[in-house]
Amino acid sequence: MCGIVGYVGRRPCRDLLIAGLEKLEYRGYDSAGISLLADGHIDTVRAVGNLSNLRTAVAAAQNGQPREGAVAVATGDGGARIGLAHTRWATHGRVTEENAHPHGDCGDQIHIVLNGIVENHSELHAELTAEGHGFTSETDAEIVAHLIERHYDGDLTEAVRLAFGDLRGHYAFVAMHADHPDVLVGARKECPLIVGIGTEEAFLASAIPAFLSETRSVLQVETDEIVTVDAEGASITDPSGTGIAREVEEVTWDEDAAEKAGYPTFMMKEIHEQPEAVAETIADRLPTLDGVDLSEVDIDEDFARSVSRIVIVACGTSYHAGLVGRYAIELWTRIPIEMDIASEYRYRDPVVSEKDLVIGITQSGETADTLAAMRLAKERGAKVMAITNVMGSQATRDADTVLYTRAGLEIGVAATKTFTAQVAAMYLIGLWLAQVRGTFPIEDVRRIIAELKRMPSMIEQTIESVDDRVRAIARAQADQRFFLYLGRNIGLPVCLEGALKLREISYIPTDAYAAGEMKHGPIALLDESTPVVCVATESPVLEKVLSNVAEVRARGADVVAIATEGSTVVEDAADHTIYIPRTDWVLQPLLAILPLQLLAYYIARRNGLNVDQPRNLAKTVTVE
Ligand code: AGP
Repeated sequence: MCGIVGYVGRRPCRDLLIAGLEKLEYRGYDSAGISLLADGHIDTVRAVGNLSNLRTAVAAAQNGQPREGAVAVATGDGGARIGLAHTRWATHGRVTEENAHPHGDCGDQIHIVLNGIVENHSELHAELTAEGHGFTSETDAEIVAHLIERHYDGDLTEAVRLAFGDLRGHYAFVAMHADHPDVLVGARKECPLIVGIGTEEAFLASAIPAFLSETRSVLQVETDEIVTVDAEGASITDPSGTGIAREVEEVTWDEDAAEKAGYPTFMMKEIHEQPEAVAETIADRLPTLDGVDLSEVDIDEDFARSVSRIVIVACGTSYHAGLVGRYAIELWTRIPIEMDIASEYRYRDPVVSEKDLVIGITQSGETADTLAAMRLAKERGAKVMAITNVMGSQATRDADTVLYTRAGLEIGVAATKTFTAQVAAMYLIGLWLAQVRGTFPIEDVRRIIAELKRMPSMIEQTIESVDDRVRAIARAQADQRFFLYLGRNIGLPVCLEGALKLREISYIPTDAYAAGEMKHGPIALLDESTPVVCVATESPVLEKVLSNVAEVRARGADVVAIATEGSTVVEDAADHTIYIPRTDWVLQPLLAILPLQLLAYYIARRNGLNVDQPRNLAKTVTVE
């Protein structure tokens, strides 16, 4: 999730913009840049790495190396009073200076900064190239500058509105034109964009912290809106150009709350960012309903057809995401899948063959055990793919190829949005392999793709709809000293992940078991009031799960069940039922995990614990 800041107004803005970027550092980034407009000329400085590198590059520009430009003369009366700045969390194109934003059009007259994903970037790139446009970066974002150039006829707002019509995806961007030193134009499609209204000045940003120290007057920009901003204020239209009236609001948050987008903790903010994380992870990989596009992954179809086994290695939450993937991929591709905890795999002298595809899942890309397991598999001839959330991380160097999740920086130690993004990535791999190997009827592939595309809004809906019920259950159960989680088939990894979440942030001992295993021992753990959390979503084994629910209730356990909307049989069997929306049973884990994340969260909060930084835990485990 990139950081955007734009300014237009009465003050020289170079340092204002860089200060705004500093307030967005918490979003995570790998490069940054700034463009300033003065005397009809746009000047840009970009730098890889953190903001001190950008400051160094700006200082170098200040000393006229390599040129005289708006960045150089940005302070004092002569300074530029309009500009754009950006922190990049790379998704398309490597971490390089050329790929850092802002990006310009062919004549460097139009500059843009963008947060999000342009789904139809390949199509548009081909069209624009055929029209004679030249590209200087590998990014999807640069497309927008050229699209505005395509439509520009003296009116920047109109050109942005028309460019907006050509785009598909999940993004927000801001544009500046050398001929218009008094106006910025932005557009929003899902990704956040907000206006900060000051005295004879205004900001446009992806998050309030960017300008909170300068103004608390904000104007929300909703999805599918275009906003034109100048020193006097802002005007909003819909994609047809019709004006939309909106009140300016006063923000009362302090800087800490602003960083958390008004949520009390990073974990809660990240739980609410899951719709965006999944939407961006599937975005341009599902350009249509007809199939999955994994052209960014270096696995050719011949190898995909010849793969005789898939081995998934990971740790912690990433291991649980892999386990969900195992059920789905095996079902759709009929390829045997082996799962292993990375710290076990690397020391068990595993049998590896050249027909193996080894998938290492690691959100940080730096977990020592997972890296070592991937290296071992590679040394022994397997093709190694990394699924990671961090571009440029060690995993991207150790693997033969990488499929990125796009959840943005995750600050809370307890993984949430990276889990659902990883599960979405596993579904993409399963569907792609199934379509290449022809093991899953195309109408089923289309049906699952349609369901996956509905997922971001279903996730949003679920988080909203289950919140009160989960809070109530957490209130009732917060003093319990042990929780048991039960599930079967694809519900089991959801249980394992739910149990891990409660354990790691509330320090309450939990156990998660394949429900069929109960009678072989764990049932002895139950007494009168043991809370048992059961994933009982619709699946071919629901009946079996219900008989296990009856088993534990017979021993007095207090059963909390996660069920599929409309499946009332569960309500009759459990003490408390939490419903999630209906979708294909294989995709249910993306929804069933949400109430379990919230349950762990509310119990830990109720016990006054620091959920963002639990004791004894680090976000990235680089030790052996
Ligand atoms: C999960 O909430 C934990 N933070 C931990 O189990 C984590 O999943 C594990 O350390 C793996 O991290 P990775 O995905 O960065 O490799």
